[in-house]
Amino acid sequence: MEQLMRNFFLFLSKNKTLTKAAKNYGLRFGAARFVAGIDIEHAARKINNLNEEGFAVTVDHLGEFIDNEQEARESAAECIHAITVIGNKKLDSEVSLKMTSMGLDISRELVMENMRKILDTAREYNVTVTIDMEDHTRCGKTLEIFKELRKEYDNVGTVLQAYLYRTEEDLQDLSTYEPYLRIVKGAYKEPQEVAFPKKKDVDENYKKLIKQNLKNGHYTAIGTHDEDIIYYVKRLEQLEDISRDQFEFQMLYGIRLDLQQRLRMEGYKVRVYLPYGNDWYGYNMRRLAERPANVLFVLKGVVK
Ligand code: FDA
Repeated sequence: MEQLMRNFFLFLSKNKTLTKAAKNYGLRFGAARFVAGIDIEHAARKINNLNEEGFAVTVDHLGEFIDNEQEARESAAECIHAITVIGNKKLDSEVSLKMTSMGLDISRELVMENMRKILDTAREYNVTVTIDMEDHTRCGKTLEIFKELRKEYDNVGTVLQAYLYRTEEDLQDLSTYEPYLRIVKGAYKEPQEVAFPKKKDVDENYKKLIKQNLKNGHYTAIGTHDEDIIYYVKRLEQLEDISRDQFEFQMLYGIRLDLQQRLRMEGYKVRVYLPYGNDWYGYNMRRLAERPANVLFVLKGVVK
């Protein structure tokens, strides 16, 4: 049953008509639990509150399935605006963004042009930009773009997904770029030709990748709410004498606040991934898919 619900929400998350329609209806279907607001001004207040509680932030202007040049340019302009707000308000926040919102499905030239503008501004304000990872059909292209940008900028990072078979090789390949990497399990519905179908195998691969990246000496952001993985990282810290300066935990806004607070109290660096914007639909559906129990929460909100 859980798997059925998961597939259902992942199927819904890819619906372009619903994605477009949802933009006109404010934050609905429980999205306010996972999304900070519709603009950076709202998000900035939340970032400030989180910073005061001792959390670092990475802010994400939501946007998916962008298929025309003007929207991609607008999305890049919004990221630049967000960076200037972060810089001017001296907030402790990075920026996360998706290659499709920069025009990946239109042309590589457009993405590079948008990214160079964003990274130039980010460099000026000392802000790091992380390129999120989308579904497997875009993984190779995203990593190629990351590598090209990494040669020019030291304030750019990216994400690797433990559920993909290819990731172990990608990690090795990226090692020479001294990457700032966030490692996650992976949030998309992928065929078993490219991704481990079983959670157990994903988790094992996840641990292997974290260990490898830390032992390669690269900064590692561990993007998870899984207590077993977190325990593994804490054990590694002790057994392999890994410095706390070399890693951080990252968690999504609105998920496992208890765990976020506990880790912060234990002295770990915790960064909250804070999405904002009116394109909340796909993001919200993937969060519902991860934990069908969230649907109950949404239904309660609808009934109220
Ligand atoms: P898992 O799914 O095994 O969950 C472990 C526990 O966490 C659950 O038992 C539950 O308690 C809690 N939990 C997890 N998800 C929840 C939810 N939605 N609601 C309530 N509780 C929940 N993916 C991707 O493909 N590309 C990307 O770029 C990113 N970026 C990213 C950034 C950050 C900071 C995080 C934390 C995650 C991502 N992800 C991502 C998403 C990631 O791939 C994955 O889908 C989620 O983190 C859920 O997996 P967990 O590692 O938390 O484990």
